[in-house]
This record gives sequence, structure tokens and C-alpha cells, in this order.
Amino acid sequence: MDDEWICGRLGEDEPWMLGAVNPPVFENSLFTFATAGELGAAIKDEDERYVYWRGTNPTVDLLQRKLAALERGERAKCFGSGMGAISATISSLVSAGDHVLVLGAIYGPTTQFLRYLEKFGVTHTHAGDLDECDSAIRSSTRLLYFESPSYMRYEVFDIPAVTSWAAGRGLVTVMDNTWSTPIFQKPLTLGVDLVVHSLSKYIGGHSDLVGGVVAGASRLIRPLALTEYQLYGAAMSPHDGAKAIKGLRTLPVRMPAHQERGLAVAAFLESHPAVGVVNHPGLPSHPGHSLAKQQMSGFSSLFSFELDSESREEVAGFLNRLRHFRIGVSWGGFESLVNAPALTVEESVRATMGIPVGLVRLSVGLEAAETLIKDLGLALEGVGRLA
Ligand SMILES: Cc1ncc(COP(=O)(O)O)c(C=O)c1O
Repeated sequence: MDDEWICGRLGEDEPWMLGAVNPPVFENSLFTFATAGELGAAIKDEDERYVYWRGTNPTVDLLQRKLAALERGERAKCFGSGMGAISATISSLVSAGDHVLVLGAIYGPTTQFLRYLEKFGVTHTHAGDLDECDSAIRSSTRLLYFESPSYMRYEVFDIPAVTSWAAGRGLVTVMDNTWSTPIFQKPLTLGVDLVVHSLSKYIGGHSDLVGGVVAGASRLIRPLALTEYQLYGAAMSPHDGAKAIKGLRTLPVRMPAHQERGLAVAAFLESHPAVGVVNHPGLPSHPGHSLAKQQMSGFSSLFSFELDSESREEVAGFLNRLRHFRIGVSWGGFESLVNAPALTVEESVRATMGIPVGLVRLSVGLEAAETLIKDLGLALEGVGRLA
């Protein structure tokens, strides 16, 4: 089954769709039953049976079937946010006394969640590569968590090597695949046990929803769907489910367009004298480029670069001069966005993460590359040696 079919038609030729070109949004908070016995039977399996919105919903269920198929997993569970999916997934895999290995840089709030788990006796260690994992692993380690490409620097990890290292030691692997989307990378086919996403980025694609998903084998998804999903209450609304389904309809077309524009902008920046390193794994100069090409079929358009500047004011001035890139958090939408950790991340945290003052993050949207390049060129005129 190809990805375009999955994003479009999969699950939509069912009788309940009545031939509608878009799925109905089931807005009801509960479902009723003809007899008490039927309710009793349904409530025993609120992941499969429609009982109450906090369990599951037919609109969200359709999205789940599409996302499971896209990631080549048996099952997927959608949540009210990416963090909802990440926190429920990690919680389902650890108990008091357990240890988590984190490989490479990951999304800040995921690290914050791991710190939060310390009060329940779950510890974690950050490792930069598999050699460091070898030193950091303990008898209590249960889980290896990572992103590839990694957060902010877009470092590429050899996914088959990581998963075979972890499997050989009895660890479950969880990978955040938000950056690539399943269109460009399918971690489950490379040995990862569970894939998580923020649907709020490229998959939604229109900056109009917040959602998350975890996909993988039923034996891992079912327990968390019946426990953490139900108890934490980060349920996805059917309205957001319907918006994510609309996002999926154009995802196979949007991702190559993001790729093309992102690479053109990255190549321009790399050639600019006021710019240092450009962290985009799609550039041949990126240290992970050839590895990325082996395990990914394309590149999204979120990347970072270093301005030739040590001054927060100068970084702020650069952001303020941009006209087409809007200043804001999040990424992966139709609109181009710019953000700079020096202006948003606490100074001590930024220094610990080794992020220089001049680091700027771009999410390249669907505007013409020439427009965005012109915008950046003008804003760079006030920076560093060219100032
Ligand atoms: C890589 C990554 N994973 C997960 C998340 C969390 O997703 P959400 O904002 O939908 O909770 C984000 C959000 O920015 C992210 O960048």
C-alpha cells in the first residue's frame, strides 16, 4: 500500500462514511447501547469499542489507522498533544527504580518530563553516542529514547545500529520522528519499537491543531491505550482528528515542497559570509548527510544556522528585520517561522546545551524560495562583519 493511498483513501470506503469525501466528525462525548449487557461488554475494551470520547472516537480512530499504516506499525494511538503521547509512552514502559538512556539532544520538555519522573524513582542519563551508552547503561535500564535528526543541531544517528545495540541489551527503543514525518523516514522498519510524533507540526501542516501519536506493535500500544491514555486524559478531540486527516491528505505533496524550499534556503545561507555553520542534514557538508541518505528518503525544512554574532541584541535585530519569516515557536506549518534560543531559552540552559548565542532556527514554509532568500539576504546585511 503506498503512502498517498494511506493519506487519502485508507479506511474511507467504509459504509459509515456514506461516500462522503471527508469523514464525518463524531462530536458526541458518549455512545449509547441497546442493553446494559452490551455496555458492560464494550467498557471492558475502550480502545476498540466506542464508549466515551476519552477512550476513543470513530474520527480519531480513522486517523489512527492511517498513521499506523504510514509508519508500518500494527497500531497507533492519538493524543491531545505530542507531549501527551510522549509522556504516556515513557510512563507505560518504566516503573520505580528503572533507568532511561537518552541518546543525543531531544526536545526540551521531553527532558523536563524525564526529570519530573525522578520524583517517582525513575532516573535517566544523557549519552552522545553508542560508546557513551555502553558506559551509561545499568542493570535497571529499560528504555532508550532518541530523535534522529536530533533536536536543534539535527545530528543523524545510525538507526539500525542504535536499535540492534538496544535490542541486544533487552531495551525498548522509542524514537521521536516528528522532524522527518513518516513520508521521509519509517523508524519501525529500521528496528525502532515505538515511534512518537507531534501532529502539531508537518502532519497537521496548517498550524491549526495540537496533537500527538504513538505507533508500533499492538503488544506495546494496547496497554498504554487502556491505561495511560485513559488516566492522563490527554485525549484527542475529534475536531483535531479531522484536521489532522485533512493535513494528511496533502502531506505527500507538501513534504517535497518543504524539502525543496528548505534546501534552497539552507544552501543560500551556507554561502553567506555572515553565516557560520548551517545544521541541515540535507546539505552535503553536514556530517550526517550520507548516513541520512541511507535511512531517509527526504529532508524536512526545519534547521538551524549560526549567525556571525555574539550579541543577543544583534540576533534580535536580525529576527526583527525579517518580513516573511514570522517570529514564533513551533514549526512544520505552511508559514515560514524564525526563532532563536538565545532569546527564548534561559541563559544557563542554553550554555549547558552548548548552543551559541548566534544560533537561529528556521522552519521554512511553502512560500517561494526566492522570496525567503531575498528576505534573509536583506536582514543579514546588518549582521557581523558585513555590518
Ligand atoms: C521534536 C518535538 N517533539 C515533540 C514535541 C511536542 O509536541 P506538542 O507541542 O504537540 O506537544 C515538539 C514540539 O515542539 C517537538 O518539537
